[in-house]
Amino acid sequence: MKPLLEALNLREVKRPPFWMMRQAGRSLPEYRALRQEAGGFLDLCYNPDFGTEVTLQPLRRFGMDAAILFSDILVIPHALGQELTFEKGEGPKLPPISVEDIEKLSAQKNNIDKKLEPIYQTVRGVKEKLEENQTIIGFCGAPWTVSTYMIEGGSSKNYAKTTSFSLKHQQAYDQLIDLLIETSVHYLSQQIKAGAEAVQIFDSWAAVHSPEQFERCVLKPLLKMAKLLKDKHPEVPIILFPRGIHPHQLEVFAAHNAHFEGLGLDTTIDLAWAHEKLQGKVCIQGNLDPNLLLTTPEIIREKVTKMLEIGHKKPGYIFNLGHGVLPETPMENLEALVETVKNF
Ligand code: CP3
Repeated sequence: MKPLLEALNLREVKRPPFWMMRQAGRSLPEYRALRQEAGGFLDLCYNPDFGTEVTLQPLRRFGMDAAILFSDILVIPHALGQELTFEKGEGPKLPPISVEDIEKLSAQKNNIDKKLEPIYQTVRGVKEKLEENQTIIGFCGAPWTVSTYMIEGGSSKNYAKTTSFSLKHQQAYDQLIDLLIETSVHYLSQQIKAGAEAVQIFDSWAAVHSPEQFERCVLKPLLKMAKLLKDKHPEVPIILFPRGIHPHQLEVFAAHNAHFEGLGLDTTIDLAWAHEKLQGKVCIQGNLDPNLLLTTPEIIREKVTKMLEIGHKKPGYIFNLGHGVLPETPMENLEALVETVKNF
């Protein structure tokens, strides 16, 4: 079996498998060159030739154990009919939704594949070209994180609008969460049918909640998605990435390991603690600080080796970063990381 899938199934591997969040995209000169000639970012996501090429670029350069599909978490609101643009240097922009819009979005829930079909095509294209030991990971955003973009209209500092919306319009917000659960599970299921061998659910902004809101907006929706997907595709490992949550909240997730296999750790988590408390119940993935990749090859080699020594002591560890690769990361530093993992 492929090393990444072995690790997710808590089986022994020769060395920890690795990939990097945001490995495709702006840190790579070959991406920037293609991006320049190809037009808008979303056009790229909906173009299978481009998507396939860009998904494979990092593997060609670095030979990771997994490719992550080139797409974005915001294609779900887009497929539901919310406008979406990516301005240069500004990130995503959407017309913020109000309570009344939720019905309109819901009415589109059975039509999303019209927009998303090219993305499934990308999965097929990548799958055909992977080497024997490489895995393709599909992904989507978690309901909370996706809803912040839908309600704030773009990136946010404190998610005040989304949180107050969810408390003021409880029923409407719960309906939105359910809509995102249903459509995202469908989207992941279609990725799996197209060839995705594992999936990751990104809850990038999971860290802002009161305990009640954590349970309502993060824990329950993620576990529900995982369970629904597991019922459909019991053989496909699921990685949850609720970024920034507290260690005791990670332990709550790990206690529900019947529904998912992997737990992504962000930079703030002590890997030795996670090794002790979580690894074995679930496969842990992470968590090198992406800022460390802005330093020197020597510093990187030392830190990566230390992490591998911890994670490799028992089955169930995937080497990754604690968040995405920063666009300004020097290629020689990524090379130092890759070399260290591969020679471990
Ligand atoms: O290697 C990969 O991970 C590529 C696939 C990928 C993209 N976005 C491509 C992308 C993945 C897995 C994502 C996930 C994503 N998108 C998340 C969750 C992960 C995380 O980083 O926390 C979030 C929050 C988004 C939303 C989003 N998309 C933002 C905020 C932005 C603008 C800022 C940024 O990081 O670039 C995007 C645009 C985006 N998504 C780009 C890429 C390559 C840059 C677009 C460009 O080339 O101009």
